[in-house]
Amino acid sequence: MRVVTLVTGLLSLSSMIQAARVVYDMNITYVDNINPDNLKPRQVVGVNGKWPIPAVEVTLGDVLVMNVHNSLNEPTALHAHGQFQNGTNWMDGPVMVTQCAIPPNHDLQYEFNITQTGTFWIHSHYMGQYMDGLRFPLIIHNPAEPFKYDEELTVTVSDWYHDQSSNNLQKFMSVYNPTGAEPVPESGLINDNANVTFNFVPGKIYRIHVINISGFATFFYSIDGHQMEIIEVDGIYTKPQLVDSLYMTAAQRFSVLVTAKNTTDTNFYMHADMDTVMFDSLPEGLNPNITAPIYYNSDHQKFAPSQDVGGDSTFDDMTLVPLYNASSVGYDHQVNLTIDFQVTTDGMNRGMFNELPYLSPLVPSVNTMFSMGADAMNVDVYGPQAQAFMLKHLDMIEVVLNNLDGNAHPFHLHGHVFQMVGRGEGVYTGNTSSVTWLLDNPPQRDTIRVDGEGFSIIRFRADNPGIWMFHCHIDWHLESGLAALFITAPDVAQERMALPQAFKDICEAGGTPSVGNAAGKMSLDLSGAPNGVTLIPDGFTAKGKGAMAACCISALIGMAAIVWYSLNDPQRKVRDRMGRPPSR
Ligand SMILES: *[C@@H]1O[C@H](CO)[C@@H](O)[C@H](O)[C@H]1NC(C)=O
Ligand SMILES: *[C@@H]1O[C@H](CO)[C@@H](O)[C@H](O)[C@H]1NC(C)=O
Ligand SMILES: *[C@@H]1O[C@H](CO)[C@@H](O)[C@H](O)[C@H]1NC(C)=O
Ligand SMILES: *[C@@H]1O[C@H](CO)[C@@H](O)[C@H](O)[C@H]1NC(C)=O
Ligand SMILES: *[C@@H]1O[C@H](CO)[C@@H](O)[C@H](O)[C@H]1NC(C)=O
Ligand SMILES: *[C@@H]1O[C@H](CO)[C@@H](O)[C@H](O)[C@H]1NC(C)=O
Ligand SMILES: *[C@@H]1O[C@H](CO)[C@@H](O)[C@H](O)[C@H]1NC(C)=O
Ligand SMILES: *[C@@H]1O[C@H](CO)[C@@H](O)[C@H](O)[C@H]1NC(C)=O
Ligand SMILES: *[C@@H]1O[C@H](CO)[C@@H](O)[C@H](O)[C@H]1NC(C)=O
Ligand SMILES: *[C@@H]1O[C@H](CO)[C@@H](O)[C@H](O)[C@H]1NC(C)=O
Repeated sequence: MRVVTLVTGLLSLSSMIQAARVVYDMNITYVDNINPDNLKPRQVVGVNGKWPIPAVEVTLGDVLVMNVHNSLNEPTALHAHGQFQNGTNWMDGPVMVTQCAIPPNHDLQYEFNITQTGTFWIHSHYMGQYMDGLRFPLIIHNPAEPFKYDEELTVTVSDWYHDQSSNNLQKFMSVYNPTGAEPVPESGLINDNANVTFNFVPGKIYRIHVINISGFATFFYSIDGHQMEIIEVDGIYTKPQLVDSLYMTAAQRFSVLVTAKNTTDTNFYMHADMDTVMFDSLPEGLNPNITAPIYYNSDHQKFAPSQDVGGDSTFDDMTLVPLYNASSVGYDHQVNLTIDFQVTTDGMNRGMFNELPYLSPLVPSVNTMFSMGADAMNVDVYGPQAQAFMLKHLDMIEVVLNNLDGNAHPFHLHGHVFQMVGRGEGVYTGNTSSVTWLLDNPPQRDTIRVDGEGFSIIRFRADNPGIWMFHCHIDWHLESGLAALFITAPDVAQERMALPQAFKDICEAGGTPSVGNAAGKMSLDLSGAPNGVTLIPDGFTAKGKGAMAACCISALIGMAAIVWYSLNDPQRKVRDRMGRPPSR
């Protein structure tokens, strides 16, 4: 599956690095009778007939090639989460943003330069497919690694559903689910296996890559009897920080150094506790607290007592300090995004920014950008509900995220890391004294947790021409519309790059236009572009809105089936209005 060819030559990176072209042939296949939680066998989506899918490992300076063949009876697409894709925007993965989905029985080659190091992952960016198993670690080694350790381990934590995502999505995106209750996972898994065990050798220092590959659940992570020293978060080195536990929302990653004990008389448990706050119900038998033994000596079963504190963890990622100092600078351009969940005119409860759910256009936005010439600078061509924001090349962008929902949500920016410069309670009104600022070398990540009924302020440099999705990484909410597009300098993108022919062919193969605006037209005429899924006018109660919407449904069902992405979403505001207690 993995073929490495050495490319001789000098890279300007550090001293002399031998760059390699690392090729993975990936046949995306169904794998039957997989039973990772020992509760219920099911069909999953794997690679080359295998599941769990082994990690992809490369080194800074390599070129990663993934030759994907789709053997499923549904489309697919892969996203290398956290990779900047600087100069290769179309390799980013999200369907109808940077590419058309790969139809069944078709091939697509992903190829991009590895310019970052640390802990990443690769997952399907087609509907809820990654929750069916198409997700795996991407570990990038640094030939000039600043930290010293003896061994490396990768630990993934994830939620697990017994039903196929397409079924769960259908129930979730339904007029019969006006509160938008998300499907609740049946299990939590460490390394995709309820039986996983680890072995520590006394005295050794381990670097553990911890990755939250959840679709929904947030986890608290700890190891009894051992402190963890955080050295990397989302691919950014940090000054070492000792913690007893940490939390990870979906898609967040950490590297921690753990020093093994000197003795073998006791073994210890690793803990990953799902935060069940957002679960609408707890399925019978769900154990949200998953453990995996770390054996110093597997000949005995003497374990240290649990020190697991779960949700009482005092960890706060705003305290992490990047190893390489980068103080923030003032912004050139500000974008306000207000996060909310409401029942919309199609009768579904959807997530949305600024009162408008994201709806996928009829042409991938990257294809629009490369085919519309000067009109690509006109934000309208990306579609009336693409939630597109046009950014000027090299501007410092500030995004204010106001979360009206009672629960915390993880937001991921493609193509960049951002600085987390401030946060506060309630809605940001422009009163700078209401913000807890962190302007001197603030933490940097690609996925941020925005607290319920709170706001966070992030900044990034628009130095990567192309189209970058910004979305909630709770997959259910992404599907229902909690997404936006940052469109950076289409003129510079057109000047520097050209869309490879394969990314037009893959559209044609699936019957999707490969050029034109969001309506598939080579003009400013946007009639026919997905549109009109909006808030229900005031004057209806939430219950009334649900009922009214239900009446409109039959008319809209055909349309809803076409508009994949714009699924429904749940939330507390609605629940509160419906008289149900807020969950937090
Ligand atoms: C991919 O896997 C399918 C199902 O196992 C198999 O039929 C097919 O021959 C494989 N294709 C390639 C290109 O390996
Ligand atoms: C885990 O262990 C149980 C009990 O020994 C066994 O039945 C099951 O097959 C194992 N599951 C996996 C995924 O290895
Ligand atoms: C990838 O790196 C190679 C050098 O190894 C360079 O020639 C090429 O332009 C890079 N590609 C992109 C898209 O940056
Ligand atoms: C993974 O992310 C999900 C969703 O944000 C969260 O509920 C879960 O607790 C996270 N898991 C860990 C171990 O942090
Ligand atoms: C292991 O023993 C060495 C040498 O006695 C000591 O310096 C070190 O702190 C010990 N490590 C732990 C984790 O106890
Ligand atoms: C999970 O662990 C936490 C922390 O120890 C504890 O508070 C909670 O009650 C546990 N939950 C269950 C269902 O055992
Ligand atoms: C980062 O660098 C700036 C400018 O050199 C300096 O003022 C600041 O104290 C440094 N911050 C940290 C956290 O090291
Ligand atoms: C963002 O919201 C703040 C607070 O309401 C406001 O002061 C500011 O003008 C808004 N920015 C933009 C670009 O609309
Ligand atoms: C601004 O916020 C501060 C801190 O929360 C508060 O004390 C002050 O009253 C606010 N000012 C206005 C004008 O609302
Ligand atoms: C992208 O590459 C340009 C140089 O071509 C560089 O200035 C910029 O910082 C890079 N941005 C990212 C996010 O890698």
